[in-house]
Amino acid sequence: MRKLLPLIGNPHGSGRSALTCRYRCGDACFHEVPNTSDNEYVGDVIARAYSRRSMLRSAAVVTVATAAGTAVTLGAGGGQPAEAAPSADPKAGSGEAARGLRFKAVAPNTDDRVTVPEGHDQNVVIRWGDPIVKGAPAFNPDKQTAAAQAGQFGYNNDFLSLLPLGGGYERQQLLVANHEYTDENLMFKGYDPANPTREQVEVAWAAHGLGVVVVQEDHRSGKLTAVNRHQLNRRLTATSEFRLTGPAAGSALLKTSADPTGTKVLGTLNNCSGGTTPWGTTLHGEENFNQYFANAGQVTDPAEAARLKRYGVSTGATERKWERFDKRFDCLQEPNESHRFGWVVELDPYDPNSVPRKRTALGRFKHEGAQPRLTEDGRPVVYMGDDERFDYFYKFVSSKQMKRGDSRAAKEHNLTLLDEGTLYVAKLTGDSPAAEVDGSGKLPADGQFDGSGVWIKLATASASGNVSHVEGMTAEEVFVFTRQAGDKVGATKMDRPEDIEPSPRTGRVYVVLTNNTDRGKAGKAGADEANPRNLNKHGQILELAENFDDPAGDGFAWRLFLVAGDPNDASTYFAGFPKDKVSPISCPDNVTFDPHGNLWISTDGNQLGSHDGLFGVATAGERRGELKQFLTVPRGAETCGPLVQDKRVLVAVQHPGEIDGASVEKPQSVWPDGPGKIVRPAVVSVWRKDGKNIGV
Ligand code: FEO
Ligand code: CA
Ligand code: CA
Repeated sequence: MRKLLPLIGNPHGSGRSALTCRYRCGDACFHEVPNTSDNEYVGDVIARAYSRRSMLRSAAVVTVATAAGTAVTLGAGGGQPAEAAPSADPKAGSGEAARGLRFKAVAPNTDDRVTVPEGHDQNVVIRWGDPIVKGAPAFNPDKQTAAAQAGQFGYNNDFLSLLPLGGGYERQQLLVANHEYTDENLMFKGYDPANPTREQVEVAWAAHGLGVVVVQEDHRSGKLTAVNRHQLNRRLTATSEFRLTGPAAGSALLKTSADPTGTKVLGTLNNCSGGTTPWGTTLHGEENFNQYFANAGQVTDPAEAARLKRYGVSTGATERKWERFDKRFDCLQEPNESHRFGWVVELDPYDPNSVPRKRTALGRFKHEGAQPRLTEDGRPVVYMGDDERFDYFYKFVSSKQMKRGDSRAAKEHNLTLLDEGTLYVAKLTGDSPAAEVDGSGKLPADGQFDGSGVWIKLATASASGNVSHVEGMTAEEVFVFTRQAGDKVGATKMDRPEDIEPSPRTGRVYVVLTNNTDRGKAGKAGADEANPRNLNKHGQILELAENFDDPAGDGFAWRLFLVAGDPNDASTYFAGFPKDKVSPISCPDNVTFDPHGNLWISTDGNQLGSHDGLFGVATAGERRGELKQFLTVPRGAETCGPLVQDKRVLVAVQHPGEIDGASVEKPQSVWPDGPGKIVRPAVVSVWRKDGKNIGV
């Protein structure tokens, strides 16, 4: 008999259903916070002197002292169009929105559909189960097989990338998608969570991973349609071959009975957000990998038990019971297998035969995403968040320069850029007296949540030998157990770092912090200037400025750009823009930039009674902080993977209908195909009916 999931409350207080918490994050917020380190008092963080050029070449900036006492500034970001200071003019907001954001904002709502602004149209580009690879059958949810699923679009699309196809195919683009997790209750009729069948488990393995599919542009609109059976179309699943590269590849910490080399892994799991590199590859964060591995609670080696606990690996049986069907998912039988997940994966989507790489130089944690930019001399800098309450954010700076051009030699070289370089973690200091940050969100006397920060070196990967910068840990240990390295050096505990993206226009980096309802609870870290609200339900976005030409440096200035919530809530802040002229927003998660330099933000777990949505906000100019909602998603869904091109806005509608009590038999949404049809996560494109560009 089918067993129903117990109806459980949602301890993190977000609008997410208990089902989503369970299947997406392995109930991360039900468990004790894995970061119990007392790193506030570590006294060995040595302030380093570093000289630097001015971060700015324009006026109207905020200047702060860094931890090392050197002045760096946060304003226009240097080397880019100048901007006005955040306006205190009460008339701001009375004129026209920033270019790119000129649409009528969508009101908060709970409609079971994708709601777009007036004058816009939409189509479903591709759904879970649509065949993409040659030979894959049409989707039949009643007769789904692992073999069919391995050739079809996967479940729960998250991060999206669109890459040009070129070569005479100007109207085609390459769409790359993450398939973060499966919800078996919504995939299989009569699913019994206590007794999954082998076939169901193998379908789930095949529904995880990555998807590559060529999409055709409509010549009159922003509509996109998937090209079935294109030779570049591809699926990578929980059982495809992946290669470990970089400083920890081949380490004893990564060897298993099936792979004594410590370099070959089957599969990628829980790919959440990601990034697109300037050399034409895509990056994919392995996030809540911990939930797939069982029995960590019975591991007796104290050091290994502590590591598993720090990563929140399941203490007993897992929700999906995969350990019953493959012993590698059991920590007792294959102790190192879980160490082979939690990496950033790099995929070359232009080569359908390429083996994707897990880049160990970028560290191991619950990777949300990974977005690179280049230094002036062409070295990639990659920003990364660890999505857990009270965890850290990081950057990796490559020691190698990107080669331009399409030659085979350039391509081969560029596929090594992320194997050598230095991994850093962020430590932030506020500039206001601690007593002025009272946990309510009230601005301190200087009118800003702001301060300085330092990137603390953790380890350097190099062909000539890897170096640890953390006392008591080897370089291999730093790369494999990066969270513990962050603990030791006193990194700043943040409110769940999600996407982190540098603005292509200003170079400023936006760090999305989604929420943390444990902030300020007994025994937990209280509010600080970067995480200024206790019991933080709605999240905030932090703006960080490094030297535009040299983001490889180790100092930065920061300030909060957005403190999310209902604009009527006194604790919210929209970069100083009048709050009666912005859309309410809650739980920011994934972000992208449009061609005009505006930041677009998707949400996960709206706490304000509306469905999740996508919002655009100006980051520069006199409209800086004007936030407008562009769309909302159906019941139970999260907005993921946003992309904004001239003619279209693309979103991944993830886990529609994932509401407590939902099943295939009792759907809680009719999206996308209407009543009587199984609910399917899908990618949606939105465009203007008049054929003009988005938001102009
Ligand atoms: Fe998969 Fe951090 O969201
Ligand atoms: Ca301040
Ligand atoms: Ca996310």
